[in-house]
Amino acid sequence: MQDARFVRKAFDGIAGRYVLTNHVLSMGIDILWRRATASLVADWSPKWVLDLATGSGDLAATIQRVCPEAKVLGGDFCPPMMEHAKQRGLESLVAADGMCLPFRDGSWDVVTVAFGLRNMASWPQALREMARVIKPTGRLVVLDFSLPRSRWFRSAYVWYLERVMPKVAGLITGKRDAYEYLCKSIERFPSGEAMVNLMMENGFHSAHARPLSGGIATLYWAIK
Ligand SMILES: C[S@@+](CC[C@H](N)C(=O)[O-])C[C@H]1O[C@@H](n2cnc3c(N)ncnc32)[C@H](O)[C@@H]1O
Repeated sequence: MQDARFVRKAFDGIAGRYVLTNHVLSMGIDILWRRATASLVADWSPKWVLDLATGSGDLAATIQRVCPEAKVLGGDFCPPMMEHAKQRGLESLVAADGMCLPFRDGSWDVVTVAFGLRNMASWPQALREMARVIKPTGRLVVLDFSLPRSRWFRSAYVWYLERVMPKVAGLITGKRDAYEYLCKSIERFPSGEAMVNLMMENGFHSAHARPLSGGIATLYWAIK
């Protein structure tokens, strides 16, 4: 659970350098994670896809490439991030707060949210709100950071998160505090089975988790 005002201000401050910083910190692996997410979505041949917390619009654009027939809309609550998405070529954008979405019940075949749910004020409420706007039997897809299961890899990763990442990101963006927040938010965010259970308790069934890159990110999906 996060403070929405802090989150909005943090993304206001890093919008212009968000994509570059992502690619540097992940050594480009984030591109592969979004491709895996888009390929999962394409398997369902959806007509209506909402990419919530779209930020720079990278996932929405990747989904649009592999689902050319689909109507893909990016929604976010941070105007500078949306402006950045527009400059990067994403045309279908809407101001949308994940805690209270401006859509009718059952309007979307698939809702995706990449690195966004973790930043929302209440994870259960956000999941229930996503379930509300998804059509019956439609799907939710969540891509987010997680902590590796293997003990040694987890320790090395937490060391990188706490000691290296905020310094490098601070140099690129000038906003070290936003990345100190990122590190804490990853450590607090439920992952693996805990996230699967959270989805099942808040409007979904048949939830699955697929760890990516040794578990530093996880792709989750579930049916409404
Ligand atoms: C880390 S970025 C993720 C951007 C993009 N999905 C990606 O794959 O890189 C998180 C985004 O979530 C948005 N966000 C956070 N809380 C939100 C909320 N309650 N409603 C809508 N967007 C939110 C932020 O404005 C930011 O653009």
